[in-house]
Amino acid sequence: MLLAFDDEQELATRLAIELGRPMGLITRHRFPDGEIRLVLPKPLPVDVIVLRGLQHQPNDRLVELLIAAPAARAWGVRRLALVAPYLAYMRQDMEFTPGEAVSQRHVSTLLSTQFDRVVTVDPHLHRIASLDEVMPAGCGVALSAAPLLGRWIAAQVPGAVLVGPDEESGQWVAEAARAGGLTHGVGRKVRFGDTQVQLAFPDIDVKGRAVVLLDDMASTGRTLIGSAREALERGATSVDVAVTHALFNGDALPSLRAAGVRHVWSSNAVPHESNAVCVAGLMATALRRH
Ligand code: R5P
Repeated sequence: MLLAFDDEQELATRLAIELGRPMGLITRHRFPDGEIRLVLPKPLPVDVIVLRGLQHQPNDRLVELLIAAPAARAWGVRRLALVAPYLAYMRQDMEFTPGEAVSQRHVSTLLSTQFDRVVTVDPHLHRIASLDEVMPAGCGVALSAAPLLGRWIAAQVPGAVLVGPDEESGQWVAEAARAGGLTHGVGRKVRFGDTQVQLAFPDIDVKGRAVVLLDDMASTGRTLIGSAREALERGATSVDVAVTHALFNGDALPSLRAAGVRHVWSSNAVPHESNAVCVAGLMATALRRH
């Protein structure tokens, strides 16, 4: 059975159909003091998959998982997998200031104590190469929406130049470019704060070309906004944006539009109005394999 929460029903339904499994909903109630009450469907089969992305208020969602997983086990579930299309805390991957917790490691470990498998899409693996470095070997399964986005972009904007705004995006941009048969370049970024970034555009000629910026995620949108402005200043005819994880917090989306971005596309790993490609098939294939 696939268990999901009401705000991710659309992706859950598509995944359940792909897997040919029944879907059940976990319902939630928030008490006045902020505690939550979860109700899982009963009885549960021995083999259960929980779908829960960790976008938007990830701490609340982590607590949901820390309650739902042992509850499912208490009612006889033997094999328990988590599908977290967006895995939060992956960017906190080193001790940036003395004493700072390396949350990537600790949150990953926490999830791996509750679930036998953790399947996710484009986790922010920058200073580590694989989830095996932060979870028991084989527990974490990292999929990529980059090829889907690359093919989508090639169909929408034939001949586009793909640009990754920073070194970290290099892996996804290269994959997307390969899948879509597109040329690409990768810039550099220094971050000074949540919304302060300094960007160096890649050394490629975009004059008279359609540019598509591609990244694993957009949060405040400042990374993409800086790159979009630079591309337009260098003579790009259009700038579109494609991301795996459409977080788009605060004024990110209107600010992107104001910076001259034309289309915004994303995978449905995070439910958002910009969703253009579906990761359900990708996830179903991985779940059948593991
Ligand atoms: C980090 O390097 C990520 O790949 C994204 O570039 C970053 O998280 C985007 O954040 P924001 O939208 O706040 O600039």
